[in-house]
Amino acid sequence: MTDLERRQDRAPVPSGWDYAPAPEARDIVTLEDRYGVFIGGELVDPRSGEYFPTLDPSTEEPLAEVAQAGTEDVDLAVHAARDAFENGWSGISPAERAKYLFRIARILQERSREFAVLESLNGGKPIKESRDVDLPLSAAHFFYYAGWADKLEYAFPNRRPKPVGVAGQIIPWNFPLLMLAWKVAPALAAGNTVVLKPAETTPLTALLFADVLRQAELPPGVVNIVTGDGRTGAEIVKHENVDKIAFTGSTEVGKAIQRELAGTGKKLTLELGGKAANIIFDDAALDQAVEGIVNGIYFNQGHVCCAGSRLLVQESIYEPVIEKLKKRLQTLRLGDPLDKNTDIGAINSKMQLDKITELVAAGKDEGAEIYQPPCRLPEKGYWFVPTVFTNVAQSYRIAQEEIFGPVLSVLTFRTPDEAIEKANNTPYGLSAGVWTEKGSRILSMAQKLKAGVIWANTYNRFDPSSPFGGYKESGFGREGGLHGLEPYLELDESEARGG
Ligand code: NAI
Ligand code: MG
Repeated sequence: MTDLERRQDRAPVPSGWDYAPAPEARDIVTLEDRYGVFIGGELVDPRSGEYFPTLDPSTEEPLAEVAQAGTEDVDLAVHAARDAFENGWSGISPAERAKYLFRIARILQERSREFAVLESLNGGKPIKESRDVDLPLSAAHFFYYAGWADKLEYAFPNRRPKPVGVAGQIIPWNFPLLMLAWKVAPALAAGNTVVLKPAETTPLTALLFADVLRQAELPPGVVNIVTGDGRTGAEIVKHENVDKIAFTGSTEVGKAIQRELAGTGKKLTLELGGKAANIIFDDAALDQAVEGIVNGIYFNQGHVCCAGSRLLVQESIYEPVIEKLKKRLQTLRLGDPLDKNTDIGAINSKMQLDKITELVAAGKDEGAEIYQPPCRLPEKGYWFVPTVFTNVAQSYRIAQEEIFGPVLSVLTFRTPDEAIEKANNTPYGLSAGVWTEKGSRILSMAQKLKAGVIWANTYNRFDPSSPFGGYKESGFGREGGLHGLEPYLELDESEARGG
């Protein structure tokens, strides 16, 4: 017997096909104990003197302390942005502006592993998503808008495009760096300067981005970053020297901002929540559709404004779809966000976990049937098992309210008209999915669905050239594409009509 045969003899066929741990090394990230605010090109101590800890939601361990920027800090940031706008940035040639954006994009690519690890550490999302989605898309947004910076006259012919001034940008915690990119890239391409506030639970990649700006030698004050909670956001919104507010977050805060800005003449775009229908017709390729359902609601733990959180299945295929879906859920791996095999990471915060838990309890109380695959949750950290509710009535809270977690509500329909009626029966209108073999049906559904983004035979696909945004309580204004430049420009109206 050869050595090899002998060894094989002693190594029995594995009893299971469990994945061995494959953790991404975290030592590429260097964290400070404490971070100030990024104003005028430097990280400075906050005038407020206040700090709060930011955590790793998968362990509840503190990662660092960040500033709770106050009135004076926001005021300094806005002044730095105003100064940079008036004394340089708005005056430099558009081709020069583009160079900075290209540089930022390239540096993000070069440092993408560092950013991906930090994004997963601070936000709880699986490394394979931050590595393969958040980072490439963030860099792509800067590349895309870099290309527009010196072509605004062609993009908006005869409308004399001019920058708006200082943009106040408030972003959420579900895609921290990507939302930063969606907001900062078009603002800079159009010649504005920025005061950005990341969400309180996920400030670290925005603070690392400050380092990218220094590396790119962006003139001081063009982008300022202040950390803090909603109070800091409210200070930006009401600051008289801010010309435009871009907000992504809850409908509740979006409405409050709109009320606050009424009559001030400040420009506003709002990207708020959603309760999207993902509609599966009986002629759809079922295995692909099941992958689309899973990607639609369990991607990023369901912390996605355009998540396909209401599944509408045609009655004739209800049983096979649910059976396949349950089987597929049993294969999802929940755990360490930094493990390359992880599909479902940690819930972003205790607050969000409480909200999900409460809505799931409401679903059970109201009479829906719950399915959760067998799954061991880690002892520390914030976790929620991927969940499917069947027997859901349209009136249930789980069919109406945004859960923003890995929880799917399943409804059925018989005819396309019924699918449209149910899909549109929501105060939101951000996105929808349609799965069918028929091209004509895709087109007719797309016309009748009241949603800003409609995916056909796919879900949660993003591209910087494609505008994103909603109707109704999902907000207004578009981000991405040519449309995404408009909120950051003053455009000559009369010329447009005349020309
Ligand atoms: P939120 O709307 O309170 O927070 C989003 C951002 O707005 C954060 O940066 C926050 O500090 C800031 N903010 C909060 N209050 C503000 C105010 N009065 N003025 C200015 N800025 C303010 O969202 P939250 O509380 O984190 O999540 C609550 C729910 O909102 C979630 O469960 C989810 O349903 C929804 N949501 C939707 C998002 C989306 O992408 N459309 C993103 C985050 C949350
Ligand atoms: Mg809030």
